[in-house]
Amino acid sequence: MSSPRPIRFFHQGRVQSVEGLPPQTTVLQYLREHARCAGTKEGCAEGDCGACTVLVGELDTDGEAVSLRAVNACIQFLPMLDGQALLTVEDLGASTDLGPVQQALVDCHGSQCGFCTPGFAMTMQAVYERHQACGTRPTRQDLADDLAGNLCRCTGYRPLLDAGERMFEQPVRTLDRAPIVAALRGLRDDPALHYEARSRAGTPQRVFAPRTLEELAALREAMPDARLVAGATDVGLWVNKQQRELGDVILTGRVEDLRRIDVITVHGQGAAPGVMSANGHLSAGPAVAAAAVPAPTSRTTLRIGAAVPLEEAWAALAERVPALRELWLRFASPPVRNAGTLGGNVANGSPIGDGPPALIALGARLVLRLGATLRAMPLEDFYLDYMKNALRPGEFVEAVEVPEPPAGTRLRGYKIAKRYDSDISAVCAVLSLRLEDGVARDVRFAFGGMAATVRRAAKAEAAVSGRAWNEASQAAAALALTEDFTPMTDLRASAGYRQRVAANLIRRFWLETRADAPVAAASASVWQAINLQRSVA
Ligand SMILES: Cc1cc2nc3c(=O)[nH]c(=O)nc-3n(C[C@H](O)[C@H](O)[C@H](O)COP(=O)(O)OP(=O)(O)OC[C@H]3O[C@@H](n4cnc5c(N)ncnc54)[C@H](O)[C@@H]3O)c2cc1C
Ligand code: FES
Ligand code: FES
Repeated sequence: MSSPRPIRFFHQGRVQSVEGLPPQTTVLQYLREHARCAGTKEGCAEGDCGACTVLVGELDTDGEAVSLRAVNACIQFLPMLDGQALLTVEDLGASTDLGPVQQALVDCHGSQCGFCTPGFAMTMQAVYERHQACGTRPTRQDLADDLAGNLCRCTGYRPLLDAGERMFEQPVRTLDRAPIVAALRGLRDDPALHYEARSRAGTPQRVFAPRTLEELAALREAMPDARLVAGATDVGLWVNKQQRELGDVILTGRVEDLRRIDVITVHGQGAAPGVMSANGHLSAGPAVAAAAVPAPTSRTTLRIGAAVPLEEAWAALAERVPALRELWLRFASPPVRNAGTLGGNVANGSPIGDGPPALIALGARLVLRLGATLRAMPLEDFYLDYMKNALRPGEFVEAVEVPEPPAGTRLRGYKIAKRYDSDISAVCAVLSLRLEDGVARDVRFAFGGMAATVRRAAKAEAAVSGRAWNEASQAAAALALTEDFTPMTDLRASAGYRQRVAANLIRRFWLETRADAPVAAASASVWQAINLQRSVA
């Protein structure tokens, strides 16, 4: 085992070296209580309000450029910053020399009490940097989607969206990344992080951030009781809200092999890997011959590493299954999706998680690793009971493999929540079937929020499989749901509401996918209907 060393990262123009702080110190606590950078605010301490939004910069694998992503500082632990750059509202400009985002916020009256403003400014800076790099401009809807994780209780969103447009009218001034690249290149030579300090409760606590799959597997096997942490968007809340001590921690975010999305195409005897770029687009990477890039008719499998951020994973999923786009945009918020991972979503196993219904409907399987031994299992078999899964001591999720849906598959994803943006599902349904001469085949109805685990509705599926997909069979399936599920009442919804809405979703699915006169998905979406009404008015 390597020797302990300080946490090292770039902040305020230089490499900071931190030791002695409890390993569960959040980035927000570090900023406000130790670095005396109080521009970043704390609102909810659970990733919901965006007041604490900061940018994290990471060196690309070739060491030439830094990518920036907005995250919630309140649910990131300081050791997760090791080897990276931290940018806060203090980096955007001075009161006598405002940056384009700040100037636009002033010009458009985008701030009143100002509590939310640093968070908005940081999210908008991320948007500004992204579009300036590509030479593109966001639409107003794009801006609204980008700002879905930032709450403002006084200004109202119209001036904020105005500022999002106006910032591109200012003289161009992006963040200077050269010193960050130089510093992060230097930090790359540091050994993998092994940090030790006393926890908040005063007990010794260790954090490891292995860089290879083999190192991770060896550590995990040697320390089966250590807590794996990927993006900390679930675990961060256990610490902030339940005051939990995590014990020893193994971070997965530095393992390059867990951060890849590969496209596996079966050619005769073997499988050829293709490479997905960070934005989810298929590219013929070094390992893939041009001929291996899948033709539209070939069936391929997406292999999503367990530490791939949710934003990239959902982009890749929605690129092949466009019907999942709304679930993607409604999953948490951009800062949560930039930090959280699909592996964490699957492993956490919440009955109201939105990833598992989509993945189960698509027939995904998990690749699990214990030491050098790999095994695979359908995701639907992974969940044993409420928050209990099939992982063995020392085992971890290496990847999620998602087969391309067979030609002719009709799939829809529905999220029922109290709020459109950034809310947890009361019910999430991903429903899929293939029509063969009007007869339903390969039926997979996956529901979250209806039982102790996300699972398929076996009776409802049976009511439809091999039968004509029509009013009678959808009604039979909706009725059979009462045999499949006995949902519970909680603060999100009553049992009766859940049962009724689930049945209605099967009906909606039929209306949208029936062979004769299907209703266009756009006209069945209340949000798109409202926009249509507005544009007509
Ligand atoms: C504001 C907010 C909104 C949210 N909205 C949604 C939402 O709309 N839908 C939704 O589904 N979820 C939502 N979440 C929950 C959370 O973002 C997701 O579950 C996320 O995918 C968790 O991933 P993570 O990488 O952050 O996991 P972590 O918090 O790092 O870990 C979660 C669990 O997974 C385990 N784990 C992580 N990686 C592995 C691995 N490779 N092998 C084995 N175990 C592993 C950890 O030990 C832990 O038990 C929200 C969270 C917040 C804070
Ligand atoms: S303080 Fe609300 S998201 Fe961090
Ligand atoms: S300006 Fe007061 S909360 Fe946004």
